[in-house]
Amino acid sequence: MSKFTNILAIESSCDETAAAVISNDHVLSNIIASQAVHQFYGGVIPELASRAHQQKIIPVVDEALKKAGMTGKDLDAIAFTRGPGLMGALLVGVSFAKAYAMALDVPLIEVNHMQAHVLAHFIRKKLPDGTLNAVPEFPFLCLTVSGGHTQIVLVKSHLEMEVIGQTLDDAAGEAFDKAAKIMGLPYPGGPLIDKFAKEGNPKAFPFPFPQIPDLDFSFSGLKTSFLYFIKDAIAKDPDFIEKNKADISASIQYTIVEILLRKMKRAADQTGITDVALAGGVSANSGLRNAFLKMKEVAGWNVFIPPFEYCTDNAGMIAIAAYYKFRKGEFAEQRITPMARLSLSSKT
Ligand code: KG4
Ligand code: ZN
Repeated sequence: MSKFTNILAIESSCDETAAAVISNDHVLSNIIASQAVHQFYGGVIPELASRAHQQKIIPVVDEALKKAGMTGKDLDAIAFTRGPGLMGALLVGVSFAKAYAMALDVPLIEVNHMQAHVLAHFIRKKLPDGTLNAVPEFPFLCLTVSGGHTQIVLVKSHLEMEVIGQTLDDAAGEAFDKAAKIMGLPYPGGPLIDKFAKEGNPKAFPFPFPQIPDLDFSFSGLKTSFLYFIKDAIAKDPDFIEKNKADISASIQYTIVEILLRKMKRAADQTGITDVALAGGVSANSGLRNAFLKMKEVAGWNVFIPPFEYCTDNAGMIAIAAYYKFRKGEFAEQRITPMARLSLSSKT
């Protein structure tokens, strides 16, 4: 056996079919096939997602292995996302991983998708000056913001995490996507709002902030007030959105980012922790990234933001989580099944 641990990881929880090969904590390949089929419907259609995963999983795995310069014989384990996610979509990845692990006679590793988003910070990369990228030290706080989740996570070690705040309704990514839908933008609208917001005034249209206790979030009230604001404005001027696209985008983005930032400030105050990380698809948002980076100067936070390729769903993050589980000997059995709902703290 080589001194490196080589793991093939598969991610199929939603609408990206992804495979990655990791050698210890260095990702050698990270292949993602996005499913364009959902754009037409304005949201992810679970059954179409499952079918697209079935079509793409073998070519994606094949490409990941080739790019890493490996064949099945070089692998020490096969990892997969067990949940949370869409049941049919997860099933494709889990079934493939089980079959491949059995064929190669190597261990199987199950990964929690939300834990993997956090652990994306531990993927090591050589920087141009020859040094390795910095990784957070324990304990740290991680704001995980995706299309399905919004969580403040207290990260105690690689595999020990506690959710100390979360959304009571919509996720932050959903808030972006729903606002975009109300503006008539295609799915997923979050990245488009980000793009238009760059040219706009974030204070042009003020929206109300939710009053939610503790470290929890709510975005459904904001969605409703945004909907009525747009309806009223269009009634007065049918071209309102077209004329004000940048200002509307900047204003809604500012509000979502402020809601997230205020809670993170509270979490930092309550825990006394100033090592703060961002994770999940919405951490690709430039407004959110800039707001966090500013906190370096304003509050002395040590801020960690993953590279873009590890923000939105990818298998590199599943692979790094699997590497830490491999080191602890945490393997799954062949009879394992996917779980559409899987909490971060649940021992599986
Ligand atoms: O983590 P992710 O890829 O998938 C889930 O696990 O949900 O997150 C997807 C979410 C979508 O809601 C998408 O609109 C949002 O992340 N997103 C963004 C940006 N890039 C992705 N939202 C705002 N600005 C962005 N640049
Ligand atoms: Zn995700």
